[in-house]
Amino acid sequence: MIEIIGPLLRSADAANLGSSTQKPAPLQKQLIERLQQAILTGRLPAGSLLPSSRLLAVEMGVSRNTVVIAYEHLAAVGYVIADQQGTRVNPLSGSSVRDGEMTGQAVAPEVAYATRVGQFAATRTHADNTFPLTPGMPALDRFPLTAWRRALERSMEHALPLALGYGEPTGEPALRDAIAAHLRMARGVRCEGAQVVITEGAQEALNLCVRLFTNPGDTAWVEDPGYRGAKAAFNLGDLRMLPVPVDAEGMAVAPDAWLAHPPKLIYTSPAHQYPTGAVLSVARRLALIEQARRSGAWLIEDDYDGEFRHTGEPIASMQGLVDDAPVLYVGSFSKTMFPALRIGFVVLPRAVAGRTAVALQEMLRGGHRLEQLALARFIESGEFGRHLGRMRRLYRERQQALRDALAAHFAPAQILGGDCGMHLTLRLPPALDDRTLVERARAEGLNPRALSSFALHPGPATNGLVIGYGNTAAEQLAPAVHTLASLARDMSRKEARSQSASKVRTRRLR
Ligand SMILES: Cc1ncc(COP(=O)(O)O)c(C=O)c1O
Repeated sequence: MIEIIGPLLRSADAANLGSSTQKPAPLQKQLIERLQQAILTGRLPAGSLLPSSRLLAVEMGVSRNTVVIAYEHLAAVGYVIADQQGTRVNPLSGSSVRDGEMTGQAVAPEVAYATRVGQFAATRTHADNTFPLTPGMPALDRFPLTAWRRALERSMEHALPLALGYGEPTGEPALRDAIAAHLRMARGVRCEGAQVVITEGAQEALNLCVRLFTNPGDTAWVEDPGYRGAKAAFNLGDLRMLPVPVDAEGMAVAPDAWLAHPPKLIYTSPAHQYPTGAVLSVARRLALIEQARRSGAWLIEDDYDGEFRHTGEPIASMQGLVDDAPVLYVGSFSKTMFPALRIGFVVLPRAVAGRTAVALQEMLRGGHRLEQLALARFIESGEFGRHLGRMRRLYRERQQALRDALAAHFAPAQILGGDCGMHLTLRLPPALDDRTLVERARAEGLNPRALSSFALHPGPATNGLVIGYGNTAAEQLAPAVHTLASLARDMSRKEARSQSASKVRTRRLR
């Protein structure tokens, strides 16, 4: 047996090998691991008889008790079976582990992955998210940490130790009520706390909408260009996606689409279309609600940056436009508080909240209770409203600085959006590839995103840069845009040179 599993390592051996810090594992543990490994790799084949505990103890130089305990452990987990004739290797069901050495094999063969895994395309890395110009990144250095710490401490004082247990699966009632009250007042949403389901950010809210309202193969409409998170959620639900173009009035649905591609879900960001920044017109909102109602479809209203309106009067939510609209209103605290909080929500229509209560109790687990309670406190105490007010003013100032810089360096600049939120979108001429420019910008420590990366069908209209100003101080914006403009000029010059070189080549060939 020692030839199959090798000798066990003792402290003295380790010292001789020069390993003074690493003590070998206890002999019993080593013996168990060696035998397991030999069984898994087939060196001890199924059905083979292991030596008696007495013999193996002598061979390995350990006490008999060590071997007996090792055999008992292996029997308890099913590697071996003990009967009257002795201890035998159990035939294991996973043939792949027996058919060859495990070490060095791929973790799982390609076919083991679900098809949807291959449908994701790499577009970003998280490390870049700290760079200036990152879209969707709030001014983290302006977050009122002291007030937040106070809210957390109060929650701990009042709610511990009970809040260490599982919470209500749909979220802390205090937070659901606080959100409902805030949404009624600030966004004109028609809701009560009982309709609010707390989720792990907007992303989980989108996933939940897919799980509650669709079956695999159903059709979901997505804005094109549009939010990648929505597409990821629809992909996970095995939905078919119909790209719907976007113009200055937001999502532009072709009249025949309702019959040709009847949707189950329609994703829209009406307050500030992501990423073009268009505001969905009231006429289109009403038409969408009316048609969705007639076709039995659900509208997902992603109000991700509706709180930061910079021009004119606030535009109320689509959900609140008419009574009982077929709207699933999704929100997030990632921008209004900070992304790592991972708290978002979906407001379900009243009747739906009742019908899905049982399913939600089974599907969700209540957690992050202290953060939820602290957030409820933060909202109720007025801290949240004050923070929003301060951030609105800050983002307005930053947006103006970005506009000025773009006008100065990219004239004539075609800038989209800006009524809400924390980014502007700059259209680029077709000859200037947005992905290449983004790559070069990243090398300079700047992180705008390529507009084309948000499109299901990229084309000249989706060639551009999505430029965030939330996390970038006003005085940093002009130098950053200057860098972008230099990179763009350099690309244009190279493109012009290569075109004239290819013209010369063509002429010579003629
Ligand atoms: C359009 C849109 N919706 C929602 C979110 C928020 O997502 P989450 O709450 O999962 O962070 C983002 C974040 O970038 C977004 O761009």
